[in-house]
Amino acid sequence: MSTRKILITSALPYANGPIHLGHLLEYIQTDIWARFQKARGHQCYYVCADDAHGTPIMLKAQQQGISPEQMIAQTKIEHSTDFADFGIAFDNYHSTHSEENREFANTIYNRLNAAGHIKRKVISQLYDPQKSMFLPDRFVKGDCPKCGAQDQNGDSCDVCGATYSPTEVKNPRSVVSGATPILKDSEHYFFDLPAFAEMLQTWTRSGALQDEMANKLQEWFKDGLQMWDISRDAPYFGFEIPDAPGKFFYVWLDAPIGYLASFKNLCDRINVDFDSFWAPGSDAEVYHFIGKDIIYFHSLFWPAMLEGAGFRKPNAVYAHGFVTVNGAKMSKSRGTFIKARTYLEHLDPEYLRYYFASKLTSGITDLDLNLEDFTQKVNADLVGKVVNIASRCAGFISKRFNGTLSATLAEPELYQDFINAGSSIAQCYEQREFAKAIRDIMALADRANQYIDAKAPWVLAKDESKQQETHDVCSMGLNLFRVLMHYLKPVLPKMAADSEAFLNTELLWQHYQSPLLNHAINPFKALMQRVDPVKVQAMVAASTENLQPTADASSTVAKAKAPAAAPIASAQREPISDTISIDDFVKIDLRVAKIIAAAPVEGADKLVQLTLDIGAGETRQVFAGIKAAYTPESLVGRQTVMVANLAARKMRFGLSEGMVLAAGPGGSDIFLLSPDDGAQPGMRVK
Ligand code: MSP
Ligand code: ZN
Repeated sequence: MSTRKILITSALPYANGPIHLGHLLEYIQTDIWARFQKARGHQCYYVCADDAHGTPIMLKAQQQGISPEQMIAQTKIEHSTDFADFGIAFDNYHSTHSEENREFANTIYNRLNAAGHIKRKVISQLYDPQKSMFLPDRFVKGDCPKCGAQDQNGDSCDVCGATYSPTEVKNPRSVVSGATPILKDSEHYFFDLPAFAEMLQTWTRSGALQDEMANKLQEWFKDGLQMWDISRDAPYFGFEIPDAPGKFFYVWLDAPIGYLASFKNLCDRINVDFDSFWAPGSDAEVYHFIGKDIIYFHSLFWPAMLEGAGFRKPNAVYAHGFVTVNGAKMSKSRGTFIKARTYLEHLDPEYLRYYFASKLTSGITDLDLNLEDFTQKVNADLVGKVVNIASRCAGFISKRFNGTLSATLAEPELYQDFINAGSSIAQCYEQREFAKAIRDIMALADRANQYIDAKAPWVLAKDESKQQETHDVCSMGLNLFRVLMHYLKPVLPKMAADSEAFLNTELLWQHYQSPLLNHAINPFKALMQRVDPVKVQAMVAASTENLQPTADASSTVAKAKAPAAAPIASAQREPISDTISIDDFVKIDLRVAKIIAAAPVEGADKLVQLTLDIGAGETRQVFAGIKAAYTPESLVGRQTVMVANLAARKMRFGLSEGMVLAAGPGGSDIFLLSPDDGAQPGMRVK
């Protein structure tokens, strides 16, 4: 087997938030692959960095009253500590806010510019006149241009699911200052992506992408590639564009360049030739691991930039799916948005490494972290199968045989089967079919346990004439355990290190063929504790954020909202509508309704799903945009008023059968109507 030169990266996490279990899927997947390549003896480097630029980071630092530099320095320490504690063994962890990155960004830009791939054009965008800044889409809010729902995002509506441009939003406001944005012109710099269409068509079909990804790209090619806007106006936290004062590189321009910067920083430190990895025609291999949400950047912009600036392109970009917890998107109110740090305060990181590995494939499907399954699987496989082999054999060796393994291998054929399985397990790792590798390893663990069960050393040991056999059987068991730990080492570095201490040998993939014979081992210590379900629950409880103070328990009407809205001055009051007749009014059937259940709606931040009792045993389901004002829990049990004869409306999440009545401009300023005490569900309001 010849030695390969391999550079591996994971996507660079944003420097404005903590690492969570969703992120960790990616870093664990990449780390296992990198550790595997290193175990096979290849010259392999795994680098990453914080993605430190952009408007959200600039604004968050402002909010905290610190400089962006201070904020990203602090975050980098937190991220690095989280990663280290999960056993993610980067060869380098750098930052996109670094001199190396500035240099590469400038070089790449200058080369693209010189080759005619940078164009300029004046565009018109929403601008916050109070903050004197252009507003990225997510910093604009307003009414949906399609359905009129209030307080929707600048680019999409949670209520009807429409997507639109922020300039279409009705009653737009700046999330930064609350001011009404104005349209303002500015010259922007564009990267000529369409010029690379042909190269990209070829590259994306060259095996560099997973099939699912290549298919998705075909759709994008069909729609036609667009010029890519790579500049942002001051104020912006990033790198100023050379010879363009007040213009900055958009964060996504210099983010992937951070891969080069981090690697360069490593090369300088350990004396590796950067160009031998990145010059065109390099014989090194380069792989990017990413999430499915950032495919466009990595499979179109990035290879085009590299090509246009005279660097080689990656061998492959490997995308993975998203983590869900207990079958749903991670959610703060359910306690399933779990930060790396919160996890570490309750559970062993190797449980998660194992669980993710046991479910990871080379595909892009989402991966569900089912917490019950997690507990059960780790306990059954790692504790019940793998550790069990060692713990059942180790005691006899230390107590009866002076801590030394037998000089003969009891079952050479069984041992050879374990060794032979190595090449297909290696192939599974290589192809990122970790779940298959784990299944194969666990099947071997079952065979090892069956062997020990059949030989029953605890019975043999009682027979004075069978001491040699006891010694041989236990030594055989530990030799099988040793082979398994070789195979598991990329997934479980800590348990592997503890096993090395116990077996008094280094677990090197290349050297495992010969068994340990007549070899002194150390006393056995528990290699892994069982997952305690109580700790899993405690982790969820610690992750549960109560978004609103809960209601006063003594009150029947839950008043979740503390502050009253300010009195309305006549100028601000919505104008009174046109006069209607009493006949018009009675068409609207208003009923007292009791909220008997309320739940958050996954994928719609603002909605609460209400189940309403409207008397006579009838219930209605209504989706209400009141989440910013009321927690679902605070609503259960209270009464309100609903429009009972409104035509039902099909929404993305289900059927909405009516509407509850509330006052207020929207957002957290929503005031749900309540009847006085004594009213009963189903009573008509007239
Ligand atoms: N900063 C960009 C990446 C720039 S790479 C040149 C970014 N950062 S991120 O912090 O939002 O995400 C970092 C990585 O974590 C991405 O690959 C993203 O897909 C992945 N994940 C974030 N949340 C995730 C899940 N819930 N599940 C799986 N992966 C997730 O994007
Ligand atoms: Zn809408």
